[in-house]
Amino acid sequence: MTPLNDSTLAELVRRARAVAARAYAPYSRFRVGAAVLTGDGTVFDGCNVENASYGLTICAERNALFQMVGSGRTDVAAIVIYTPTPEPTAPCGACRQVINEFGPNALVVSVCDGSGVITRRLAELLPGAFGPENLGS
Ligand code: THU
Repeated sequence: MTPLNDSTLAELVRRARAVAARAYAPYSRFRVGAAVLTGDGTVFDGCNVENASYGLTICAERNALFQMVGSGRTDVAAIVIYTPTPEPTAPCGACRQVINEFGPNALVVSVCDGSGVITRRLAELLPGAFGPENLGS
């Protein structure tokens, strides 16, 4: 597994932590921040945004990824997910699917307030994924 260099990882963690503080999570009270590193070294962040109509909630990871797409980039090298919890939180299934679209080999790192870290390639989190190649695109 190609490691992220330490300063890039530290910057992604800083961005994910900072944006988690801006999460809109009045229903679950579960704040999440995500920072995406693109192939050209740009970082995009996003927090979860809940809604009184619960099913409209968007996760932090997809929020960050959609910010990236709006900038014209579609190449994810890594994503860091921060939760203010004692243990790290891996991305939900929907977010794994969306990460796969843009970074089938992306490094996915989950960090928290404890010392635990989960570091995986996306393909490990979503083996046998359905993706663009299945549509011939
Ligand atoms: N959440 C995320 O932002 N990312 C995940 O991968 C899992 C869940 C959010 C959605 C919701 O606002 C809250 O966490 C509780 O599910």
